[in-house]
Amino acid sequence: MPSQIRFNAFMMNCVVHLAPGQWTAPDDNSVGYLDPGYWVDLAKVLEKGLFDGIFLGDITGIYDVLGDSADTALRTAAQVPMNDPVPLVPLMAHATRHLGFGVTVSVAYEAPYLLARRLTTLDHLSGGRVAWNIVTSYLESGARSLGQRELRAHDERYERADEYLEVCYKLWEGSWEDGALQRDAQRGVYADPARIHAIKHDGRHFQLDGVFQCEPSPQRTPVLFQAGGSARGTQFAARHAECIFVGAPTRNGLRKSVQTLRAELEEAGRAPDSAQVYAMLTVIVDETGEKAQARYATYKQRASYEGALALLSGWTGIDLSGYAPDDTLTYVDTKAGQSALASFSKLDPERVWTVRDAVEFVAIGGRGPVVVGDPVQVADELQAWMEDTGIDGFNLAWVESPRTFHDIVEYLVPELQRRGAYKTSYAEGTLREKLLGNGARLQAPHIGARFRHGGDAA
Ligand SMILES: Cc1cc2nc3c(=O)[nH]c(=O)nc-3n(C[C@H](O)[C@H](O)[C@H](O)COP(=O)(O)O)c2cc1C
Repeated sequence: MPSQIRFNAFMMNCVVHLAPGQWTAPDDNSVGYLDPGYWVDLAKVLEKGLFDGIFLGDITGIYDVLGDSADTALRTAAQVPMNDPVPLVPLMAHATRHLGFGVTVSVAYEAPYLLARRLTTLDHLSGGRVAWNIVTSYLESGARSLGQRELRAHDERYERADEYLEVCYKLWEGSWEDGALQRDAQRGVYADPARIHAIKHDGRHFQLDGVFQCEPSPQRTPVLFQAGGSARGTQFAARHAECIFVGAPTRNGLRKSVQTLRAELEEAGRAPDSAQVYAMLTVIVDETGEKAQARYATYKQRASYEGALALLSGWTGIDLSGYAPDDTLTYVDTKAGQSALASFSKLDPERVWTVRDAVEFVAIGGRGPVVVGDPVQVADELQAWMEDTGIDGFNLAWVESPRTFHDIVEYLVPELQRRGAYKTSYAEGTLREKLLGNGARLQAPHIGARFRHGGDAA
């Protein structure tokens, strides 16, 4: 087990992320997401708490699987309305020095060139603090809104994403050689054209012939995150991801997911610990265990279970309006996210989930567990999860804004630091150096390093 726990904050640019109903509390400010100050304040709190980063999820489309209608999602604000996460990054980067920014951008709907240019821009503006959460998009509603007749088949989305990444590596790693950038004012030479190369790619899904128009950013390729846990998704993660985000509701399920991931990394020719694994988890912490439990009880009363049903239906691709609350969830393959349903059915054979169990569970914190207590109780529990499952840290979900992260920074971080289980200062350097300690750039045997000019895949 790593000696120190890593934290990211798991957010989305919306009112309701993973705790439908909580925005209605009088002292909650989730609706503040439209205000730049909301994000700047949050970034400062997280940096004060030495969080590695803020992880910004994103979806394209809305949750309209439940009852074949978007009404429930719209009424309860279940991840709709939602704004683009990308513009939040420069805002928060400008107000901080070390905090990382994991931003979700889908490979489903735009040319790799445009996405690569946007992430390079963010990496420049943040001084090398950007990570990309690679998603393939699982909502039919998104596919239809973006001009596709239907969502692509599940495994085909990953196969296409593999080629997408290859094009991005070529742009980020292969177009500008080291030394191409001269910035020689005396000679009036900004860049050396002889060391800048057109990328030629003629693949099954993408074609490209051109020079990458951005000068190399501090990390070139942003730190690569991935969160899809199906068999094909895990294979994709093992090939590309440097950080992997797992959503599993039980310890057994999480341990199993981590073991599978580490084995797949080896299979892909990488060291089993070459990717950091983060578990989704929600912390409710207060000065005393009684206060924390009382707050948890209030959250459960305030939760919107119909909002949770809309989310769960969207994640699994199953219209749960046709199920009775006591029906057991069983695994079937769907075109949507396969790991979401698996985590409430086949992932942990010791746990049987009814629809009611799963909806009550996801209503506070989504697919991850909830840990409630005073700082000592919560720290004990997080350390036990680390030890028992082999993860490197947590992507922490929130219930109330801004309270959840304030409480973690005020109560939990100092307790973990007292135990030597949490850093007391940031490492210097880019996000990749802080997280992986292995240079600012992708390193062999990561596949991306092979696309450098002169590399064996260039
Ligand atoms: C913890 C976690 C967070 C995720 N966040 C996002 C997200 O922000 N946007 C998105 O489109 N998909 C997100 N996903 C979905 C995955 O990227 C993936 O598309 C989905 O799980 C389907 O792939 P799978 O069948 O391999 O699991 C997330 C999944 C997990 C487990």
